[in-house]
Amino acid sequence: MKGNKHIVRFGVSMEDELLEKFDKLIHQKGYTNRSEAIRDLIREKLIEQAIEKDKVCFGVFSFVYDHNVRELEEKLTDFQHENFNLITSTMHIHIDKDHCLEVIIMKGKASELKKLTDKVLSFRGVKNGNLVLTSV
Ligand code: NI
Repeated sequence: MKGNKHIVRFGVSMEDELLEKFDKLIHQKGYTNRSEAIRDLIREKLIEQAIEKDKVCFGVFSFVYDHNVRELEEKLTDFQHENFNLITSTMHIHIDKDHCLEVIIMKGKASELKKLTDKVLSFRGVKNGNLVLTSV
């Protein structure tokens, strides 16, 4: 049936030394069992692969900029209007008198989202930022 998920159990063999390191790592990360940790590792790899294959994914792009740079705010707004097809949502936070933080949620091919991010980071007055890509 469509949408029905079956749980399959399988055994994994590895050197005790490697398993000890793995247990230590997942304990630090807060996992209470190995199965969930292994599932998350696999998901992480699949997302990495989807990004490499340039599939449609979601991007969370956050950056800080100087509020006092002339016309930057207008430039950023124009740029987002030009790319409305890739931008889902924008959040703006006034950090202090001089700085703003903007968080842009995007949906599109990984390469398109990276290109958009690089363009914004090249604007004068945009100080630092980073893009996190994810997928289901
Ligand atoms: Ni602001």
